[in-house]
Amino acid sequence: MIQCKTSKEIGGMGHSIKRKEDARFIQGKGQYIDDIKLPGMIYMDIVRSPYAYAKILSINSEKALALPGVLAVVTGKDLEQHNLHWMPTLMSDTQMVLPIDTVMYQSQEVAAVIATERYIAADAVELVEVEYEPMQPVMDPFKAMESDAPVLRVDKEGKTDNHIWHWEAGDKEATDQVFNEAEVTVKEQMHIPRIHVVSIETCGCIADYDKINNYLTMHMTTQAPHAIRTIIALVAGHLGLTEEKIRVISHDIGGGFGGKVPIYPGYVIAIAVSFLVGKPVKWIEDRTENLQADSFARDYHITAEMAGTKEGKILATRFKLLCDQGYTDAAANPSKYPAGMFSICTGSYDYQHSYVEADAVYTNKPPGGVAYRCSFRVTEAVHAVERMTDCFAQKIGKDPAQLRMDNFIHKDQFPYKSALGWEYDSGDYHQGLQKVMEVVDYHALRKEQEEKRAKGELMGIGICTFTEIVGAGPSKDFDILGIKMFDSAEIRVHPTGKAIARFGTKSQGQGHETTYAQIVAEELGIPAEHVQVEEGDTDTAPYGLGTYASRSTPTAGAAAAIASRKLRAKAKKIAAYLLEVSEEDLEWEPGKFFVKGAPEKVKTIQELVFAAYTNYPPGMEAGFEATHYYDPPNLTFPSGAYICVVDIDKETGQVKVRRFVAIDDCGNIINPMIVQGQVHGGLTQGLAPALYEELIYDEEGNILNGTLMDYLVPTAVESPNWETGHTITPSPHHPLGAKGVGESPTVGATPAIANAVVDALSHLGVTHIEIPITPPKLWKILKEKGAV
Ligand code: CDP
Repeated sequence: MIQCKTSKEIGGMGHSIKRKEDARFIQGKGQYIDDIKLPGMIYMDIVRSPYAYAKILSINSEKALALPGVLAVVTGKDLEQHNLHWMPTLMSDTQMVLPIDTVMYQSQEVAAVIATERYIAADAVELVEVEYEPMQPVMDPFKAMESDAPVLRVDKEGKTDNHIWHWEAGDKEATDQVFNEAEVTVKEQMHIPRIHVVSIETCGCIADYDKINNYLTMHMTTQAPHAIRTIIALVAGHLGLTEEKIRVISHDIGGGFGGKVPIYPGYVIAIAVSFLVGKPVKWIEDRTENLQADSFARDYHITAEMAGTKEGKILATRFKLLCDQGYTDAAANPSKYPAGMFSICTGSYDYQHSYVEADAVYTNKPPGGVAYRCSFRVTEAVHAVERMTDCFAQKIGKDPAQLRMDNFIHKDQFPYKSALGWEYDSGDYHQGLQKVMEVVDYHALRKEQEEKRAKGELMGIGICTFTEIVGAGPSKDFDILGIKMFDSAEIRVHPTGKAIARFGTKSQGQGHETTYAQIVAEELGIPAEHVQVEEGDTDTAPYGLGTYASRSTPTAGAAAAIASRKLRAKAKKIAAYLLEVSEEDLEWEPGKFFVKGAPEKVKTIQELVFAAYTNYPPGMEAGFEATHYYDPPNLTFPSGAYICVVDIDKETGQVKVRRFVAIDDCGNIINPMIVQGQVHGGLTQGLAPALYEELIYDEEGNILNGTLMDYLVPTAVESPNWETGHTITPSPHHPLGAKGVGESPTVGATPAIANAVVDALSHLGVTHIEIPITPPKLWKILKEKGAV
């Protein structure tokens, strides 16, 4: 394995942090929501629809209610009395909490059973009798767009089709002209399949409404506690649950990956029941419910095109998207970007023309469109451009590595304005590709491939050189439901020099407890072990938009640095006062101020903090605390150069990833070990859709692989030995020069693997294979091409 550089090696490059090698990996208090038991707690389970599209004729709860311990069966009609049967989605669409008369997808919530014990609630679910009149669902998004397709959202007054939104970016006319005149064009139709985040820990909550104080404490699995509190207040404010009466606590939530950003109906039903009965209500999904009903990811149908010269200069790209949103648009995108950050699809290459056109459509599938370990659709964009880059190279007979080298944006072109309007902050793409090619010995691999081909063996080498766009985001462009996407840090240093630092983000295992403490330690000189990091409690943490889309380092990490610097400025004033010199005469070294030229005249940060409570300059405010809400001036643009080597068994169609080397560039690294861990996990989640994962529905709307028996999540057995390394191109606008990293590997791994498999078959005339590249799919292609 290529080792991450040590902190020593990265020290001295840009604004890097001298950091410890170890990661503390403390996650919160070690308390998953299912471990919490509150006095008087009652339990909720959910009746779900077996049909994808059906009228509800009746719901008979008699048998369920007769079961000892069952307290209530809640239906949409019950919620309707309190105007709680619909809720807004994060994309300003509407979603049923419980249906009144129609279900829109298989596994949709139909009713909720409340009981004294969890198992009684589960048993009672089986006894609720629901009579349905099934209707023919609309499952194919292309058919859903046809003019004679049945209109699914009849609840929306005046709606005459299934179209949700249309979105464009770029200059259509100019791009079309380049395509019309280009020497070479390539075009592929691709589907980035519907998948699921499949976090090991499912979603759940305990809604605990205190009738006496009119106060709701919501213990829940959320990646964005503050935003959720605001939304609960918007939904339930008319019942007196206004924002100051709501506390959201996100404990250790397990994996999030974007799937714990939305509000699910179960949360709202639990709140409604607790509000009505005044007892804490616990709801925890089971594995199957999580997979079948929670927000999906991806499901973009893309027509991708690239135009260029015979010599291999990329001139333009064009993308047409059909986005299958299920029955409601419950994606978690910034408001202005309904197709997320898809417009990063111009990639790492220097050309002037691109055009994207996206349409979203309703179907009878579960809602969602979450940013599964990706910055709002970057995975889809990178897959499209990186596949097309290989298609272009293949068509003109040029080596795909060389074609990339020839088209990369040069490091001296940054900040670089992309054809679709983004200002890339920094990058050195040549260096990254050069490094990964050296590590794998690219030219030797190509020679080996040639030899193997001569023997009839199939070996492929896949490259992906991606540019990411993370750190949402600058307030001028980014909001969710109108709330600007800043993030925050509040640092309070106690008289003895020990600090508590609170953030608007919420770690799900990314190690914020370690890295945020390191940032404060580096900036203030307080040892990291004396910085207590807290997130996830709306009563204590400053307001923030939460953790997803690799935004924590670019936003809250920056806020931590700036809040620390505000405190350092105060410490300097106190030092000048105590040492009886002017501030200009002082010099800072992490942990102390001393007088220039007289290092024995020194005050440590601990002495200065103590003085902030005991002996501060006249007129100065006492105490030692600072808050910063960081509104980033730009996004950060991490990048990566990945190479994957595959061997294919012709007889079975089985793909074996022999080698995978990932060179990432996330600017200055705060903690190399954590970054390496992020990359390992992300690569496995990129392997998943490349070879294994896809949620499959039949025409009747039945999910065909709705359990983990059939939905293939790669385990350690399927995962290759990931080899990782990095280059460092600091972000010029981030206070620490850092960029996000969490999702880069998920974004880059899938196209690298797909490119490797297509490369293995390219001599047979294969130009594209849809992911997941399963053995039967590959074997069929090999058979068609006469290779077996
Ligand atoms: O928003 P999220 O925490 O998922 O993503 P991130 O900002 O990419 O950070 C993931 C983890 O990697 C955090 O603990 C970061 O502090 C750490 N990281 C780092 O050590 N250096 C970087 N340049 C970027 C992230």
